[in-house]
Amino acid sequence: MAQPTRVALVTGGIGGIGTAICQRLAKDGHRVVANYHPSEQEQADAWLVARQAEGLDVSLAVGDVSSFADSQRMVGEVVERLGTVDVLVNCAGITRDKTFKRMEQAQWEAVINVNLNSVFNVTRQLWDGMLERGFGRIINISSVNGQRGQFGQANYSAAKAGMHGFTMAVAQEGAARNVTVNTVSPGYVETAMTLAMRDDVRESIISGIPMRRMAQPAEIAAAIAFLASDEAAYITGANIPVNGGLFMH
Ligand code: CAA
Repeated sequence: MAQPTRVALVTGGIGGIGTAICQRLAKDGHRVVANYHPSEQEQADAWLVARQAEGLDVSLAVGDVSSFADSQRMVGEVVERLGTVDVLVNCAGITRDKTFKRMEQAQWEAVINVNLNSVFNVTRQLWDGMLERGFGRIINISSVNGQRGQFGQANYSAAKAGMHGFTMAVAQEGAARNVTVNTVSPGYVETAMTLAMRDDVRESIISGIPMRRMAQPAEIAAAIAFLASDEAAYITGANIPVNGGLFMH
């Protein structure tokens, strides 16, 4: 069944998983806006040229989603340009892996601010409008490591678990107005983030994945595309794992 053309905003939209989400949502007929951090201007320009060469309807929105004020400005500009945002994918995320013994306050705060506070900062700007219009899709990109914890990721695991707590609370507030809020929890995905791990650590993690391989970003994007679609209208407050069997519950 054909869906109306909707506007989708993807935070961290030029990253590994973010790019696949933007490509997939655009192919599914959304008008896609990819948010990127002000420090990524050059990558963003090249990214846009590549997406346009693919014939996709995408545009860019610069903004630091760890800042409430900058999120407000960024979302305001998107709404002014495209009229509304119907689908929000909170995908911006970083790692600062350290054993807890060595973790410093700056590493804790950076990860909580970018991965968790950003979800408040951006969703808050769009929430009232979604309730008023009686339609919205919020999709939070968490992680298997928010579900089971991970050695060296006290900051990341806390932020990612917090995202799903937010999902479950806000899903209850949006349900009666057809605003669904869901979490997708990827396992290990072939991106720059997992490439940054030490080779031996990465290999040992892969050997513990029942499918014996990492995910392709497009395999994560498929779950997001489904949750964004009309077919997923009755799914809210869920946490969908896409992890090759790494964690089951
Ligand atoms: N469980 C128990 N013990 C472990 C362990 C584990 N999972 N991993 C390591 N150890 C032990 C080691 O055997 C070692 O023991 P000894 O001192 O007795 O030899 C000790 O802990 C120190 O380990 P490292 O040598 O790894 O310590 P390090 O200080 O060099 O590195 C680290 C620490 C950077 C946190 C490193 O362990 C690491 O990168 N871990 C992986 C973290 C990870 O999974 N990050 C995911 C990034 S991708 C992502 O986040 C996306 C997503 O959503 C999945």
